[in-house]
Amino acid sequence: MTAPTDPYRSSQAHAPRRGPDPMGPAAALEGAAGSGGPADQAQQEAARRHLWLHFTRMSAYNEADVPVIERGEGQYVYDQRGKRYLDGLSGLFVTQIGHGRREVAEAGARQAAELAYFPLWSYAHPRAVELAERLAALAPGDLNRVFFTTSGSEAVESAWKLAKQYFKTTGQPGRYKVLSREIAYHGTSMGALAITGLPSIKEPFEPLTPGGVRVPNTNFYRAPGFISDDLAAFGLWAADEIERAILMEGPDSVAAVYLEPVQNSGGCFPPPPGYFARVREICDRYGVLLVSDEVICAFGRLGYYFGSQRYGYQPDIITFAKGVTSGYAPLGGMLASDRLMEPFSEGSATFLHGVTFAGHPVSSAVALANLDVFEKEDLLGNVRANEATFRATLEKLYDLPIVGDVRGDGYFYGIEMVKDKATRETFSDEESERLLRGFLSQALFDAGLICRADDRGDPVIQLAPPLTCGPEHFTEMEQILRSVLTQAWSQL
Ligand SMILES: Cc1ncc(COP(=O)(O)O)c(C=O)c1O
Repeated sequence: MTAPTDPYRSSQAHAPRRGPDPMGPAAALEGAAGSGGPADQAQQEAARRHLWLHFTRMSAYNEADVPVIERGEGQYVYDQRGKRYLDGLSGLFVTQIGHGRREVAEAGARQAAELAYFPLWSYAHPRAVELAERLAALAPGDLNRVFFTTSGSEAVESAWKLAKQYFKTTGQPGRYKVLSREIAYHGTSMGALAITGLPSIKEPFEPLTPGGVRVPNTNFYRAPGFISDDLAAFGLWAADEIERAILMEGPDSVAAVYLEPVQNSGGCFPPPPGYFARVREICDRYGVLLVSDEVICAFGRLGYYFGSQRYGYQPDIITFAKGVTSGYAPLGGMLASDRLMEPFSEGSATFLHGVTFAGHPVSSAVALANLDVFEKEDLLGNVRANEATFRATLEKLYDLPIVGDVRGDGYFYGIEMVKDKATRETFSDEESERLLRGFLSQALFDAGLICRADDRGDPVIQLAPPLTCGPEHFTEMEQILRSVLTQAWSQL
């Protein structure tokens, strides 16, 4: 679906015609709330003149308004003109507890007053200690050591650096390569980008860090013909492809395999039954580390603190970010097994890596308050109790001709749109451009739903609402999607 010549094609790019960002969580306000006064216009001018939006065709805003989200409350956000939107994407897979939680904001403010900043270089501070202990208790198996970062990309990079230095320290210096899946997104910094499986967002930055190798993902809807009618066999085939890649590269050169519990990019690919058990076996056979990239899938997104717990596998490293603070402050990190820490626990051995703001006191305090909310309100229980209803509500959309596949788990779903349901024919690049950028994203936003229309794989709409959502929110999403997808079909 993606055109390699256009790096923005499969990224968070904007329609040249109007303002909406079909690839991002937000779209322009053109035609939305009433026209703004002078302050509103000044803000628009300043945004156009000075702000550089990420993964965004800025030219789209030469004419159209820049969407400005001003405040949030519960499952909803409000733009600067007061219009309300259901946040069906938790911002960007982040706001697990919902918006506007005073107790979490106040925990951050209290911490800033007590100790705004101190580094984790040689020193500790109380909140980082408490948070590390709490995360180690929540994490599966012997993942007892927390190395904090500020973002998901840094977490992914840190895990790669740890794997490399660990193997160098333990007499296997040739291991540096990492395997990851086609279309998977693992971040944008140079190392993380080498692990990311989206050619179009890598191409402008080549050559990247050497060592990234691709394996198939678990998109069963697009499974190869010879295995397309047996989910379990497909899963084992996809896992065995990892073994094939390890053998092809040379087992002594492979350091790690990076997998998300449910692959986000491409539109939520859950693991087939048996997939992770087989991957674990393969990693053990060849001494390769299994990194579970849970930047999206941890902290309740799948009804568990960690996605690997849902699917019953034991990673060597978990990377996390986003939901650990529900976005009330930035934080990321990796949880590493005791075994990986061991070579660094004696003598002069040091993991030679760090960033200034990692485990920031305010972010750590916020993360602790966030986890308190999870416990007090049993958010994992809420997801588990309601996920079947979420799925069933979205599956109602199957009666629309444009809806080909509804897939996901927990509160994390993708809806793949097709041109022909019977043959699963997808849209041409031009149709996809027209559908996503020309219509869908703007229309969904205008209709009051924040979600993500994406064609980094085949065209999908993605939903990842706050974990506080219940059936009434699912119904609201379904109704907006039904109306907008019906219009989209009529315009094709
Ligand atoms: C699985 C995964 N890994 C890594 C990242 C990068 O995280 P960040 O944007 O915080 O650097 C993301 C971001 O969405 C992600 O989904």
